[in-house]
Amino acid sequence: VSTLDWTGRRFEVSVDAVAHGGHCVARHEGRVLFVRHTLPGERVLVEVTEDRGGSFCRADAVSVLSAAPERVAAPCPYAVPGGCGGCDWQHVTEAGQCALKAAVLAEQLSRLAGVEWEVEVEPLAGGPLHWRTRTRLAVDATGHAGFRAHRSHRVVPVADCLIAAPGTVDAVVSRTWRPGGELEITLDADAHTHVVEHRPAPGRRRPTTRVVAGGERVTERAARREWTVATTGFWQAHFDAADVYAEVVAEWAGLARGDVAWDLYSGVGLFAAVLAEQVGPQGTVLAVESVAAATADARRNLADLPQVRVVTGRVEQSLAGTPDPRTVVLDPPRKGAGRRVVEAIATRRPASVVYVACDPAALARDVATFAEHGYRLTALRAFDAFPMTHHVEALAHLTMH
Ligand SMILES: C[S@@+](CC[C@H](N)C(=O)[O-])C[C@H]1O[C@@H](n2cnc3c(N)ncnc32)[C@H](O)[C@@H]1O
Repeated sequence: VSTLDWTGRRFEVSVDAVAHGGHCVARHEGRVLFVRHTLPGERVLVEVTEDRGGSFCRADAVSVLSAAPERVAAPCPYAVPGGCGGCDWQHVTEAGQCALKAAVLAEQLSRLAGVEWEVEVEPLAGGPLHWRTRTRLAVDATGHAGFRAHRSHRVVPVADCLIAAPGTVDAVVSRTWRPGGELEITLDADAHTHVVEHRPAPGRRRPTTRVVAGGERVTERAARREWTVATTGFWQAHFDAADVYAEVVAEWAGLARGDVAWDLYSGVGLFAAVLAEQVGPQGTVLAVESVAAATADARRNLADLPQVRVVTGRVEQSLAGTPDPRTVVLDPPRKGAGRRVVEAIATRRPASVVYVACDPAALARDVATFAEHGYRLTALRAFDAFPMTHHVEALAHLTMH
């Protein structure tokens, strides 16, 4: 362990494996470096960007001495050391990004769940640029909008964002905004752009929110249905994602007429609709979601499916006293469901669990907990739903053994 702060120091390293978080591992004088803007197998000159004195520090590759075959010139001018922190893999081919994400998912499953799985990450439609229908920007002290630098509050003003849907970010950053605020841009299924501004409100804990363009609600289409979603509410960010995940959920749910199913962390009810179709009017679907605006939208969206019961509440507190499900779909936030929720599900002995995961480490931890209760991973699909970033979406099918 070093007692000297390496921040700002430069040296040459050989880069090893990719790690979870959009960086690769290298070693120097016995310490681990997490290096951004590089690839496994490369020889690079790094500059240390953060050193908190432990066994590892963080660095950027500032010059590439020997490049990996998957390296390309980053299409975005802001994806450079010290630049925008939004993307991690702009300098990698599309196939190379899928391979990196597959390696991370396989490593997390192996290390945290003891599951050896040959992971394949599949691209979604549309290629690696212009896929994002939901974008959040920050406004700097001079009123210019942009994205935060990596692990920093510093705002990097931009003229456009290449992963955002065309015509969304460029239109919003062309004017100045109230300094210190945040902007949420949404492109809906009818190609309408909605902009919500969150302005800092002096003396108040929460910022004030106002709709600057568009409306309070947006229309989306997925799983052969139309959806109403609050402009600031949750909907999958990639334009193709909701449809693709709904298809996988339908394939694995394996429900019959009259069955009981749960859709946990249900948002505006996307997967509940899929489950409701399978169980039919004689069946029951319980949809649980903690945000009241989302459950209000879910009730509207699913009004033609009386077999769905929408509950506003935390999953942790909403499962007692409900009928035992045959299938459980869960799509928790980044931190995962956690031991308490996994155990609450497993003790009800569903035949099938479909876990929709946006964080490989959280998924692996929860798969390990399911395994303690007799559930085995029987299928896995992973999608590059966040091209150019290190994020990946995995759908896991767990069945009782
Ligand atoms: C990844 S989103 C999934 C939404 C939905 N399945 C979809 O695809 O549109 C996770 C959802 O879980 C909700 N949530 C977060 N923590 C929760 C909790 N403890 N109990 C219930 N819902 C929660 C969030 O509000 C969010 O809507």
